[in-house]
Amino acid sequence: MNTYIRHMVKAKIFAGVEKKSRAAADAPKTDAKAFHAVVDSRRSVRVYADEPVPKAVVDACLDAALKAPNSSNLQVWEIHHVVDASKKQALVEACLSQPAAATAPELFVFVARPDLWRRNAAWMIEAFDRQPEVPDSAYQYYQKIVPLVYNMGPLGIFTPLKWLAFNLRGLQRPTPREPVGKWGMRIWAHKSTALACAHFMLAMRAHGFDTCPMEGLDSKRVKRILGLPRAAGVTMAISAGRRAEGGIYGPRMRFDSKHFIHRH
Ligand SMILES: Cc1cc2nc3c(=O)[nH]c(=O)nc-3n(C[C@H](O)[C@H](O)[C@H](O)COP(=O)(O)O)c2cc1C
Repeated sequence: MNTYIRHMVKAKIFAGVEKKSRAAADAPKTDAKAFHAVVDSRRSVRVYADEPVPKAVVDACLDAALKAPNSSNLQVWEIHHVVDASKKQALVEACLSQPAAATAPELFVFVARPDLWRRNAAWMIEAFDRQPEVPDSAYQYYQKIVPLVYNMGPLGIFTPLKWLAFNLRGLQRPTPREPVGKWGMRIWAHKSTALACAHFMLAMRAHGFDTCPMEGLDSKRVKRILGLPRAAGVTMAISAGRRAEGGIYGPRMRFDSKHFIHRH
């Protein structure tokens, strides 16, 4: 216990940055106008046309989803594309038969898998082993820091210990306080999975298709349909297809940005 706390208190999480002036590096050219056209035209679509989304588009959008930024690059997410007709019907019902699901040619469920951090950290180390010249700090991160931060122990018994360790360390220096405990791990995995959702929906729009994110669903039933374990969390279901006439319920509405954007 003591060693754990000592290790946690002493752990150096990030390497420092050398103090020197830095010039901007070249980055690929992008089309900001096209990006904003995608963002501005993405709407939650509740009624779809009877037109499937081509497989190539689905694949490209799934690929974009998996390129979302994610915590520690541990990729603790899954995307379930439900294509089997009877499973799809069951999923529509688990989504409370809402029109955004019932009329959708394609249905996806984005799932957070906090329980898979250890497997994915091992995959990362295996990937490093296949690459030339991976810095020691990268190995250290996945071999030492990752277990310190994400291992809550069997049945979460490390949770109070972690809370104590984070808080002790925090007395001396800036310390990441989360995730702590089983629910902290769930929040942690949902954050990254939600970013994958956003990537996916914007990619669909970029290809001329539409989506609707849905959390109006029975997550227990959804998990049963997909054969998911208890530790998995349904981040949201996302329907996709081509918007039908009247499929968008009204003009886009947002409150004044002054309430949400704070400059300090
Ligand atoms: C996490 C989440 C859950 C949502 N759940 C539902 C839902 O169950 N059914 C639905 O019709 N829309 C759902 N929406 C869509 C929101 O109602 C919609 O994004 C919001 O009204 C803004 O409209 P816009 O997406 O067209 O900009 C959800 C959106 C998010 C992000």
